[in-house]
Amino acid sequence: MKDLKIGIVGATGVVGETFVYLLQEFNIPVAELRPFASESSLGKKITCFDEKYPCQVLKPGCFEGLDVVFFSSGDPISKEWAPQAVKEGAFAIDNSAAFRMDDNTLLCVPEVNGDQLPKAGDAPAIIANPNCSTIQLVVALKPLAEKYGLKSVRVASYQSVSGAGRDGLDDLLEQSMQVLNGKEVTAGKTFDQQIAFNAIPQIGGLRDDGFCSEEFKIMNESKKILSLPDLPISAFTVRIPSINGHSEAVWFELNQSVATEDIANLLQSSNGIEVVSEKDPQKYPMNVTASGQNPVYIGKLRQDPAFDNSFQMWVVADNLRKGAALNGLQIAQAIFDRL
Ligand SMILES: NC(=O)c1ccc[n+]([C@@H]2O[C@H](COP(=O)([O-])OP(=O)(O)OC[C@H]3O[C@@H](n4cnc5c(N)ncnc54)[C@H](OP(=O)(O)O)[C@@H]3O)[C@@H](O)[C@H]2O)c1
Repeated sequence: MKDLKIGIVGATGVVGETFVYLLQEFNIPVAELRPFASESSLGKKITCFDEKYPCQVLKPGCFEGLDVVFFSSGDPISKEWAPQAVKEGAFAIDNSAAFRMDDNTLLCVPEVNGDQLPKAGDAPAIIANPNCSTIQLVVALKPLAEKYGLKSVRVASYQSVSGAGRDGLDDLLEQSMQVLNGKEVTAGKTFDQQIAFNAIPQIGGLRDDGFCSEEFKIMNESKKILSLPDLPISAFTVRIPSINGHSEAVWFELNQSVATEDIANLLQSSNGIEVVSEKDPQKYPMNVTASGQNPVYIGKLRQDPAFDNSFQMWVVADNLRKGAALNGLQIAQAIFDRL
C-alpha cells in the first residue's frame, strides 16, 4: 500500500482515538495525519507514530491533498462535509448514519460485501460504515446465508455505554458515583434515564410504532449489506452499564437441516470470526473479553429445540473496533490495496 495522507474528523472522540490506535497497531504507512474536531479542541495534539498533529476545524479546502478521510462526528457533520471531502479528492469513510441507506452509497463490511468496493480507476466516493451492532451481526450471518440459506433472524442486543460516545462513558461514571454515594441520580448528558446499575430498553430516538432508531438500523442495514431485502429480521436493543463491547443473543432459522458442529466449523473458518468453544458451555465470550480485541466472537451456539432448523448464538465484538474504526480501516485498506 502507498503512504497515505489521512484525515480523521472527530479525532478526539472515542471512535476517532480508536482510529489513531489502529493506524499504529496495523502499521499503516501514514505520510500525513490531519485531525479535525470542534472549536473547543482547536490545537489539541494527537500523537501517532511519535509525531504530534494539532487538531484543526473544518473549513472549505481543509481536505485538499488527503487520500482518505474517516468521519466520526455524527450525522449533521458527515452530511455537510463528507461530500466536500470527495469533491476535494479524498475517499470519505463515514461512521455516521447520514448515507447508510442511500441507494447510491455502498454500506460496507469487508468480510460480507467488500467485493463491491472501488477498484483501480474508480473515482473517490463516500463509503458508509454500518451501525456497530449491525456489523458484528452480519459478519456472523453472512457464511450461514451463503451456505445454508437464512429463513429468519431475531436479535436482542446488550450494548455498552461507549456506543454513545465519550458522553456515554462520563454518564455511567458520574451516575455510578451518585448511586454509590447515596445521592440522587441525575439525568446524564446522553442518557435521560438511569444507566448506572440498570438496563435501558431504548437506544436512539423512539418512533411512533414503539421501535427505537437502533432497532431499525440493525433491521434495515443488515438486509442491505447481505443483499437480502426480504429477510424477516427482528431486533430489540438494550443499553447496559458495561463500558465497552456489544453482545447479541441471536436466533436464526436456516432453509435446511444442519448439524450444530457443521455450523461451528463453518463459522470458525470464516473471515473475522472466532468461535469460542461450542463444546464447553461454560466458555463464552463477553463484553469484557471482546473489548480491545479485533474479531467477532461467537459462543453459546446450540440447536433451538422449539423450532425446526433453528439455532441460537451469542455474538460479541468491540463496538469501537470492529463496530466502527476497525471496519473503517479495513475498508480503506481494501480500497488502497486495489488502487
Ligand atoms: N461509539 C461507537 O461505538 C460508535 C460505533 C459506530 C459508529 N459510531 C458513530 O461515530 C460517530 C462518532 O461517535 P463517537 O462515539 O466517537 O462520539 P464522541 O466520543 O462523542 O466524539 C465526537 C467527536 O466529534 C467531534 N466534533 C464535535 N463537533 C464537531 C465539529 N463541529 N467539527 C468537527 N468535529 C466535531 C468531537 O470533537 P470535540 O472533542 O472537540 O468535541 C469528537 O471528536 C457518530 O456518528 C456515531 O454514531 C460510534
